[in-house]
Amino acid sequence: MSDYHDYGEVLDAVMERVRSHIGEGRVADYIPELARVDPDEFGFSVATVDGDLYSVGDHSGTRFSMQSITKVFTLALVMSRSGDSVWKRVHREPSGTSFNSLYQLEFESGVPRNPMINPGALIVTDQLLTDTGDAVGALGELLCAETGDPDLHADNLVARSEDEHGDRNRALAYLMSSFGNMHNPVPDVLDHYFRQCAITVSCEELARAGLLLARHGRRADGSQLLSRSDARRIMAVMLTCGTYDAAGEFAYRVGLPCKSGVGGGILAIVPGRCSVAAWGPGLDSKGNSATAALALEAFTDITNCSVF
Ligand code: DON
Repeated sequence: MSDYHDYGEVLDAVMERVRSHIGEGRVADYIPELARVDPDEFGFSVATVDGDLYSVGDHSGTRFSMQSITKVFTLALVMSRSGDSVWKRVHREPSGTSFNSLYQLEFESGVPRNPMINPGALIVTDQLLTDTGDAVGALGELLCAETGDPDLHADNLVARSEDEHGDRNRALAYLMSSFGNMHNPVPDVLDHYFRQCAITVSCEELARAGLLLARHGRRADGSQLLSRSDARRIMAVMLTCGTYDAAGEFAYRVGLPCKSGVGGGILAIVPGRCSVAAWGPGLDSKGNSATAALALEAFTDITNCSVF
């Protein structure tokens, strides 16, 4: 890795590369409430393990829906509590399919390919519900503590909007239930999952939360949530599965463990160094933010900060 540390200059250069692309892509509308977001927003923040924070664009004011980015943090909570047992219920291979695809689940006996696609995330939320009795509460507590913001919460309009249009996730959950791979009632798991996805953060808050992984599993208060090995394993799953059927493309273009969400955010981790949050609401055809991907590619190009 290069020793380039002037993140202020780096972020200006990232902004230069991205500026003319802001507004590109298509805002997610299969959750109607998400379609109300201004497509011309863009934010980018870097939080370093030394405690510095650098940002450009709309990084602190506007909060956006975390959506699938929450899957990283629910997995971290489950691994910290139940260790390896979750891997009996979900695999850790790339799916090569879209994040809400059903067909693989049918011929793979209700065991999802990985925890970053929707069926895998539903299993993780189900496990977290069993482990804690309140999956979304446990996630909220973790995120509030790691971002330093006690006020993080789910946007109830987004959660309700997803519930009202959530038949695909419902189908995934009931299909897994039919194979005996759901331990709690499906409506309860879906309720926690929809509210989990609807938690909103700013770019700066997301970058701070990602430090949990950049610091190899160490929390903001200095305690260890995950073993160093489990933090590494989660980042490996992010790299191979975190951007769905574009994971190969992201490894090629960005070269960092990344997790995207249909709210337009992408979290990327430079292990041992920093956590990077990029946000632009317009998505590409695979459901990943077009401008956030471009910004992350520019970031690793300029800094040479990559795991490769
Ligand atoms: O379950 C869903 O479809 C959404 N709540 C989350 C999907 C998502 O963020 C996929 N991301 N690219």
